[in-house]
Amino acid sequence: MKTITLDITGATAFLPAGAVENLKEKVQIAHHELEMGTCPGSDYLGWLHLPCSISPEFLSDIQATAHTLRQLCDTIVVAGIGGSYLGARAVIEALGNSFAWLTNKGENPNILFAGNNISEDYLYELTEYLKTRRFGVINISKSGTTTETALAFRLLKKQCEQQRGKEEAAKVIVAITDATKGAARTTADKEGYKSYVIPGNVGGRFSVLSPVGLLPIACAGFDIAQLVKGAQDMEKTIAEQPFEQNIAQQYAAVRNALYAAGKKIEILANFQPKLHYIAEWWKQLYGESEGKEQKGIFPAAVDFTTDLHSMGQWIQEGERNIFETVLSIEKPAQELHFPHDDENLDGLNFLEGKRVDEVNKMAELGTRLAHIDGGVPNIRISLPELNAYYVGALLYFFEAGCGISGRVLGVNPFNQPGVEAYKKNMFALLDKPGYEAESKAIKARLEK
Ligand code: PA5
Repeated sequence: MKTITLDITGATAFLPAGAVENLKEKVQIAHHELEMGTCPGSDYLGWLHLPCSISPEFLSDIQATAHTLRQLCDTIVVAGIGGSYLGARAVIEALGNSFAWLTNKGENPNILFAGNNISEDYLYELTEYLKTRRFGVINISKSGTTTETALAFRLLKKQCEQQRGKEEAAKVIVAITDATKGAARTTADKEGYKSYVIPGNVGGRFSVLSPVGLLPIACAGFDIAQLVKGAQDMEKTIAEQPFEQNIAQQYAAVRNALYAAGKKIEILANFQPKLHYIAEWWKQLYGESEGKEQKGIFPAAVDFTTDLHSMGQWIQEGERNIFETVLSIEKPAQELHFPHDDENLDGLNFLEGKRVDEVNKMAELGTRLAHIDGGVPNIRISLPELNAYYVGALLYFFEAGCGISGRVLGVNPFNQPGVEAYKKNMFALLDKPGYEAESKAIKARLEK
């Protein structure tokens, strides 16, 4: 069976000889620390063997809940932010038809996302749209107290109860949250919602293979058994393979070698618009895990060839502090050929009959070579196909690569202390009870 491959030759050319191999011991120690649970943040290592711990019974339960929601709803709103929605959105967009929301003939509910911003216009427009929909809600919050998600859930719960009645609404609201703590848990227990637990030892950005990702993905109609199988196979591979063949260890090593060589920004580039949210998920995973203690590679993303017409100039000729990681899909799911044109006004008849993907692949190769020539180290991650199995494998590969890479960098990859700073200021500015001192201080600062 084909597998995900990693090609780092376009990056090592920019490094001193042996730079990646020299990190072998450090990388192996970092990986061993994760396996042994001896690293900082070891309370949050539940993701490491999560895929292989998923039983068929557990998947059946998720599928049964998804089946109920699919029967009762034409629209399902996933309320969550950060790790509590990006994974589900990434997989649903990667596997779905780009025009599903326009062409949906009712075979699958539309999956919408809320609770990931505080925009009055967004929430108004959403609630207006939902007035004519038979909608359900999946409320996802590990802490159960996140403001963005709690606000959206308040609005959605109220509207769902108004439209369906309280008893019916309780059948189409599902909570995914902590086992005992937080408002989301209290509400779910009080209202009798079906609920799932986010394991305490799995952090938000590592939770896509828990109910956090699996339930919305199953509701959208995708094969979560294959997704989990791909992740399980990748989990076993990464646990067993030696450094030279281990793609998670190699990725962690080459990233750290590039960082040490002054390459402070990693740009994840795709040539398939469906991968846009995979990159958003990846940005959170790596950004929140590594960006601390004044260290860390800044994760950025571009959609090619679209962004070659906007960011391409910067990447080709801007400051040389970047490297590029191209996410490539070997075989498209559909077949479409470059058409003939009698008049050939655009001069493109030389492409007539070629697969569109062949043109895209040449754009990809041409771009990689041009960027390498422009001084941008290149890593290439290749998926045989864009299906549930390989997406599951990719998610686990990125998680393992992140855990190892963060430890090689020397940070705790599993906390996010910096996320609290804006919340503290926001609550102080909004006069939240308990924030009186902060409120006074911030107002005095603003008056200066
Ligand atoms: O990775 C993380 O831990 C965060 O991004 C969280 O997922 C995000 O802040 C949402 O938190 P919660 O699920 O508690 O609402």
